[in-house]
Amino acid sequence: MQSPEEKSLWQKRWQKGQTGWDQGGAHPALLQLIQHAKREAALPEAARFFSAGCGAAHSEAVLAEWGHEVRAIDLSEEAIAAAKQMYGKVAGLELVKSDLFEIEDRELAAYDAIYDRAMLCALPAELRPDYIEAMKKRLKKGGLFCGILFRLVDVEKGPPFAVDEAEAYRVLHRDFVLCYAAAIPAAPVPAVVREEWICVWRLRGVEP
Ligand SMILES: C[S@@+](CC[C@H](N)C(=O)[O-])C[C@H]1O[C@@H](n2cnc3c(N)ncnc32)[C@H](O)[C@@H]1O
Repeated sequence: MQSPEEKSLWQKRWQKGQTGWDQGGAHPALLQLIQHAKREAALPEAARFFSAGCGAAHSEAVLAEWGHEVRAIDLSEEAIAAAKQMYGKVAGLELVKSDLFEIEDRELAAYDAIYDRAMLCALPAELRPDYIEAMKKRLKKGGLFCGILFRLVDVEKGPPFAVDEAEAYRVLHRDFVLCYAAAIPAAPVPAVVREEWICVWRLRGVEP
């Protein structure tokens, strides 16, 4: 489980404005990710998304503008305040201060898809199975995990942590089937990320 010290480090990063991962807008590969989630994994047109560790929620706001219902959470009050200042009025976007490891009853099996950019890659390896389990519980049968992952990072000690194809397979394949994966050009922010990739996985047990 994520320690209180690790959680407070995230809160401190936000309090000190050390948010070097923030791109100031939606991720450049968001459209590609969603198009392929629709094409290769039958993502419903008005899919309900859950996003953990949303930060300033730039991509989540765009997902909502595209007609999705999005619940975006972050444990940092400052993150949610920043997101609300920019996107508080976006219809369909719910911004909540909450811990991803504490699951509300109403979140259980409630979402068609998870959106993940820099959350799985923000957690140390030992927390990845707990994170995937927490996302799995929020997904409806046959729900999707849509990720923008860091394949190669230029830091000795994370975060961020790289999650390449082999590591994603290790943490996801027991419960999910890979529907789509592609390399994308590394976004300029954060500079320490050398390679990125996108992927769409479907929770096992239901075919579209
Ligand atoms: C690297 S940032 C990514 C933010 C955002 N997804 C983006 O792409 O800009 C990771 C975020 O996860 C949040 N976080 C860390 N642990 C969390 C937890 N247990 N529950 C909810 N949010 C968490 C941090 O506060 C931080 O905003």
